[in-house]
Amino acid sequence: MQPENSLSAPVRARRMSVAPMLDWTDRHFRYLARQISRHAWLYSEMVHAGAIVHGDEARFLRKNDCENPVALQLGGCEPALLAAASKRVAAWGYDEINLNCGCPSPRVQKGAFGACLMNEVDLVADCLNAMQDAAPECEVTVKHRIGVDRQTEYQTVADFVGTLAEKTACKTFIVHARNAWLDGLSPKENREVPPLKYEYVYRLKREFPALEIIINGGIKTNGEAAAHLEYVDGVMVGREAYHNPMIMAAWDRLFYGSKQPETELGALVEKLYRYMAEQIAAGRGTAVRHMAKHYLGLMHGLPNARRWRRMLSDSSLLSANRPELILEAYSPEAA
Ligand SMILES: Cc1cc2nc3c(=O)[nH]c(=O)nc-3n(C[C@H](O)[C@H](O)[C@H](O)COP(=O)(O)O)c2cc1C
Repeated sequence: MQPENSLSAPVRARRMSVAPMLDWTDRHFRYLARQISRHAWLYSEMVHAGAIVHGDEARFLRKNDCENPVALQLGGCEPALLAAASKRVAAWGYDEINLNCGCPSPRVQKGAFGACLMNEVDLVADCLNAMQDAAPECEVTVKHRIGVDRQTEYQTVADFVGTLAEKTACKTFIVHARNAWLDGLSPKENREVPPLKYEYVYRLKREFPALEIIINGGIKTNGEAAAHLEYVDGVMVGREAYHNPMIMAAWDRLFYGSKQPETELGALVEKLYRYMAEQIAAGRGTAVRHMAKHYLGLMHGLPNARRWRRMLSDSSLLSANRPELILEAYSPEAA
């Protein structure tokens, strides 16, 4: 689905996106992100296909209507299971289903999915085809690394992308521009230690111009994003968007040509307050702490930041489960 916007020229909908991040990009964070940028493409946390098919589907797939355009990221390596999960994801109204081929965690390796799928390109093709057949209304995409372990040559990622482009309908490749080291590094180290090779991603775009190539990894400023967009179709931002969400406030203007005024912090806090009150009233067990933890970075760099973080992470204040806490943390007079 293309988002509504006020663009004079068509702009790729995935020009800016927020990365899938386990425990971080749940529907509450995505709600926040959507209030800040109308156009950014949002990704869910990775959900294993089996959890959707055999578990509590609503727990993993519930989303807010306002979140679109939004993608659900699946983990898994069994085409039939991924297909069954994809069907359900489509029914919940996601725009895209993304297959995780980049996660290096030992738990994921044990399940033989995530980054180790980069060594199984034919299986990945089967998975993507099964997903696309099951969910024709969604775009099926893949997120991957530039190689695993000692595969440091450009050709590794070029062969991976080239084979999938030939054998599947997948047209969008999100490339975390570093290797995954499957042995000896924690997932956190795997986001920091292997060197970033942006040039590989630029080269993919040059060699596969018909594909949509999105670059990811270590991008911290909108100036850096703009520089990458000279070479690729889109930029995906992970940690910086989470720790400093107001970085997204300029995205609609800078990257989507929007003339709308940028989101203002006070109005945003009011919206979050109303959202929290609604979520609690819905009575599904959502508590202030489930939402407030995602809002800690909102005041990044502002004088009130320390007080804001302290109040929104104070366990005794959170245990009262009052959405007014966010208003009080923002404005001392409200307390
Ligand atoms: C807490 C956390 C959880 C993550 N979970 C996922 C995930 O579920 N699926 C995925 O593909 N990548 C995951 N990632 C990796 C990010 O999507 C992204 O590729 C990585 O952080 C590099 O981008 P950045 O430097 O902009 O953060 C995670 C990253 C973090 C920090």
